[in-house]
Amino acid sequence: MGQIIHKTDKVARDDRPPDTAGIELKPPNTGLVQSQESITSLMRYREQLRFFRGLVGSIKKPNERLPIDLVVFSLACATGEEPASIAAVALDEMGKKGIRLCEDVNLRVVGVDIDRRSVEKAREKISHGFTIRDTVGKSSPEDLEFVNSRLNEINQVVEIREGNITKPGEIMGLTDANVIFLNAASIHAFKPPNKYREFVDYLAQRVKGNCVIFTTDLFFHKNPDFIEMHLDDKTWLYRKR
Ligand SMILES: C[S@@+](CC[C@H](N)C(=O)[O-])C[C@H]1O[C@@H](n2cnc3c(N)ncnc32)[C@H](O)[C@@H]1O
Repeated sequence: MGQIIHKTDKVARDDRPPDTAGIELKPPNTGLVQSQESITSLMRYREQLRFFRGLVGSIKKPNERLPIDLVVFSLACATGEEPASIAAVALDEMGKKGIRLCEDVNLRVVGVDIDRRSVEKAREKISHGFTIRDTVGKSSPEDLEFVNSRLNEINQVVEIREGNITKPGEIMGLTDANVIFLNAASIHAFKPPNKYREFVDYLAQRVKGNCVIFTTDLFFHKNPDFIEMHLDDKTWLYRKR
């Protein structure tokens, strides 16, 4: 997957979040209550998905015979809106660029959440479709249509698993990830908040060199192992150095 990553080499250092040197970095207050409640919606982090679309669109197959693996994790995936949106965007972009699923790219999107009820709901929605009523947030009818119209293919590529993201070593396949989405997870998962450091260290040591991490959580901020890029007012992209 080295081919898709070069775009992020253009990361602008001026895009860094405000300087917090000398201050213990705490996960940002997202305004969400501390609970296992799944607050999410389809196509929620548009700037992340726009950038992700660019990565997928830049895939060049190196060799005529073998498909490329594109492994994407959605950590703390709640009721499936995030992995479904990721898969829909990837499939749409692959379609536009004539990149064939399986023949050219083996796309796998793995959603992981600790809450069994959310996992069950996620599986059900990915099989049967999302409705506006399902999502807390603002999924427009266009967002619903964009995802629901691709459910057949989405089902081929998305897998939802129960798992604990504070134990990344137990998440099978995470070290093969090319792209990781980690959104709105900090206050839910990492208690006490400095637990996230173990998680960041694990990713720094174990994920592939070209892995890209999209997140709303400033876990990786100022970590010398990662280059960062500010995508919009609340989301960042990190790439291993
Ligand atoms: C606000 S939702 C985030 C949904 C999605 N990532 C998004 O931004 O749209 C937070 C999710 O984190 C999950 N969660 C909390 N602690 C976790 C843990 N240790 N491992 C995996 N998931 C966890 C909750 O079950 C909940 O579904």
